[in-house]
Amino acid sequence: MTDRPLKQIHLAAHFPGVNNTTVWTDPASRSQIEFSSFRHLAETAERGRFDFFFLAEGLRLREVNGLIHDLDVVGRPESITVLGALAAVTTHLGLAATVNATFNEPYELARRFASLDHLSGGRAAWNVVTSSDAFTGENFRRGGFLDRADRYTRAAEFVQLAREFWDGGQVRHSGPQFDVEGRLSLPRPPQGHPVVIQAGDSDEGREFAAATADIIFSRHSTLTAGQAFHADVKRRLAAYGRKPDELKIMPGVTYVLGDTDEEATERAAEIRRAQVGPQTAIAYLEQVWGIDLSDHDPDGPLPTADPVVDSTVVQGRTRIGDPLEIAARWRAVAAEKRLSSRELVIEVTGRQSFIGTPAAVAEQLDAYVQNDAADGFILVPHLTPGGLDDFVDQVVPLLQERGVFRTEYAGTTLRDHLGLPVPGRR
Ligand SMILES: Cc1cc2nc3c(=O)[nH]c(=O)nc-3n(C[C@H](O)[C@H](O)[C@H](O)COP(=O)(O)O)c2cc1C
Repeated sequence: MTDRPLKQIHLAAHFPGVNNTTVWTDPASRSQIEFSSFRHLAETAERGRFDFFFLAEGLRLREVNGLIHDLDVVGRPESITVLGALAAVTTHLGLAATVNATFNEPYELARRFASLDHLSGGRAAWNVVTSSDAFTGENFRRGGFLDRADRYTRAAEFVQLAREFWDGGQVRHSGPQFDVEGRLSLPRPPQGHPVVIQAGDSDEGREFAAATADIIFSRHSTLTAGQAFHADVKRRLAAYGRKPDELKIMPGVTYVLGDTDEEATERAAEIRRAQVGPQTAIAYLEQVWGIDLSDHDPDGPLPTADPVVDSTVVQGRTRIGDPLEIAARWRAVAAEKRLSSRELVIEVTGRQSFIGTPAAVAEQLDAYVQNDAADGFILVPHLTPGGLDDFVDQVVPLLQERGVFRTEYAGTTLRDHLGLPVPGRR
């Protein structure tokens, strides 16, 4: 242990919407479209003194063999619209929307986030994502979309331009991606610049974050992977004249609580089974195998055929690595542990990040932050909209007792909660 002061933990609430971890079969599960659901989760997060509320984005429903993916049929409303409504029923909570830099325009987005920042009194954040696949692009233009190699060149130029618009002066810009001249039609936002979040994991993504983001939403939720990621990204900051504190690393994490560790472990296994039902298991396999597996028995062994490498059967989801290598690895695990297809998917798609009594979970979260595996967490509950209730009631008070989480908001803007200054005008 060093004798540096305890780090303060930052917490955010991810709204459980369209993804594979939300459990829709739970009797307590409610609509992901109705405002009451967004409101419940946001009010719970604010009661827990969280830094911000977070909405992901999916611009096109996933398809398997030309049919909409079972888990996507209900879709989700547009994020900035939802956050505008939440601004009216919350007072301190930061409001973060994921919006794509590939399919939008800098002036338009700068104006929308500046508007949200004004209407919420300085609580807006933009999670800049760069997905550039042609399948999603078809929603936006007839033919032609951004080459994958250019996604961060465009994102960097985009964010730089947005910042110039937010500063309020006359903007004159001519670059490889944008040729614009103009001035924002409203005053500089209360935060100067709304908070910028980045969520890509490639080398270019990390460099982009080091150059321009205030927060990284990462996938690295184990202690050693988190420490390696944290060290890697913080090391990149110096090249941009930035200090380690100016970029917060917040992995997306899941949790399961119980009165005893055994009870929590049992609940966690039940939740995994509910998250990976027979259809979801098949969808995972199709993502790797790239073939129609609708006739495959999820309770039988893995498919005997080899994966098709350049398949278009699954659309709208990033493929998760080299399919041949993944299939070989999965076959080895299934053989060793004698698992059915569905059991295998449950096994390899990861257990929850933090499982235990509230005291055990509070201790682990704190240890991650004090040992520089993270600066905080984006909590991803498995239930809409009540999935955060137990965490706020049972874990937050223990973090507060440990002296690592605020008991009251010290300021009113998201930058205040994050300890980030208002940027000067350029
Ligand atoms: C934790 C995490 C969350 C993400 N959430 C979204 C999302 O909600 N919507 C989206 O379109 N892309 C999302 N992405 C995709 C990334 O922003 C990025 O477009 C993609 O990972 C490709 O960039 P990369 O090659 O740098 O990883 C997410 C990525 C990560 C790591």
